[in-house]
Amino acid sequence: RPIAGRSAAASSAARARFGRAVVSALESVRTVKLAAATPQVHAHLQHVDAGRVEAAVKEHRVQAFLDGVPALMVQCGVVAAWGIYFGGGWGLATALLVANAVSGFDWFGRVAGMVVTEAPGTRAWQKETSRFAGGRDLMDLPPGVDLVTGDAPDPGPVEQVPLESLELSALSAVHDDGTIGVSDVSLTIERGELVLLVGQVGSGKSSLLASLAGLIEHTGTIRWNDELVQDPQSFLRPGQVAYVAQVPRVLSGTFADNIRLGHDRPFDSPVADARLELDVKEAGGADAIVGHRGVRLSGGQVQRLALARALAADTELLLADDVSSALDAATEIELWRALRDRHTTVIGATSKRAALAQADRVVVMVDGEIAAVGPWTELAPAWSHLAG
Ligand SMILES: Nc1ncnc2c1ncn2[C@@H]1O[C@H](COP(=O)(O)OP(=O)(O)O)[C@@H](O)[C@H]1O
Ligand SMILES: [Mg+2]
Repeated sequence: RPIAGRSAAASSAARARFGRAVVSALESVRTVKLAAATPQVHAHLQHVDAGRVEAAVKEHRVQAFLDGVPALMVQCGVVAAWGIYFGGGWGLATALLVANAVSGFDWFGRVAGMVVTEAPGTRAWQKETSRFAGGRDLMDLPPGVDLVTGDAPDPGPVEQVPLESLELSALSAVHDDGTIGVSDVSLTIERGELVLLVGQVGSGKSSLLASLAGLIEHTGTIRWNDELVQDPQSFLRPGQVAYVAQVPRVLSGTFADNIRLGHDRPFDSPVADARLELDVKEAGGADAIVGHRGVRLSGGQVQRLALARALAADTELLLADDVSSALDAATEIELWRALRDRHTTVIGATSKRAALAQADRVVVMVDGEIAAVGPWTELAPAWSHLAG
């Protein structure tokens, strides 16, 4: 019986291993094709699958053997009972009783056998599936989480760590599908600095900013005051770092809902700083509805709303992707000046010359790499074609 258990476990494990291999191969199918690695992936899948077939065959053999043995034993028991009766050892009543009891044991035997043979397989299967889901036992919910009512504890307060310097070294930003958006970025940003990225579409500005917001994976290192950021997804989150996406998300609620996001945060001053004051007033105030995911707002309003939301969080670092498209040049410069007065450290992407002139340093991005870093006065002669 233990042999069957082990075999079932091995078969489940092999099944899960093959499942994982297939899923990752399918997920990265584009990358595989681009790398012309299809034959290698086929060979790998065949190799992994060979183990599965072997384990399954073994499992079925043991299963068949174990299914046969209890039935055979029971039949032998029945024959033996009648044998003893005919041999004169037992009376009719005893022989009937024993033969019936032995037949009944067939059922008990099967159930007991199943407990022994199925349990390890089930356990192995559960273990492999939870490994698949990130190494956690899926039945084991975090405290306070109720899946039926949808209740969960509030996230803990973010302890703001004042930013002295942000050091990026050999940083590459990797998108979910494996595309490397930007590579080998080494740059140190000091507290209160305004650093603006400039480059053509696809040069990697958004990827770099998203990796600094912990939204996409990175390789290389990010150091926050010499401290290595180990878990970017939780360390670089709102409260510590604010991020304005190139195409921000808007909630289907009011202006105030969108800016406060359920926290106790200011409304008026961030709205004023983001130049959204007039729009809010015209729409009917802080409690005016923005429509389903902001359908009532223009593209520029959406970006200014996202900017106000980021400013309301009063974070150590502000990442602002392409706010130029939402603001006219004069307003953008006012905004950068206002942020500078607040000593907020800002890394932004822009395409406006006048804004670049305001930056402490401009980072020129070409094809996913840094091509030049410095004040715009130095860079303008060579790179002014990238800005409008
Ligand atoms: N979500 C994404 N998934 C996969 N690849 C992406 C994604 N976003 C951008 N990229 C790729 O990353 C590279 C850099 O793009 P991006 O960072 O958007 O540049 P920029 O913001 O300078 O226009 C491009 O090759 C682009 O195709
Ligand atoms: Mg972009």
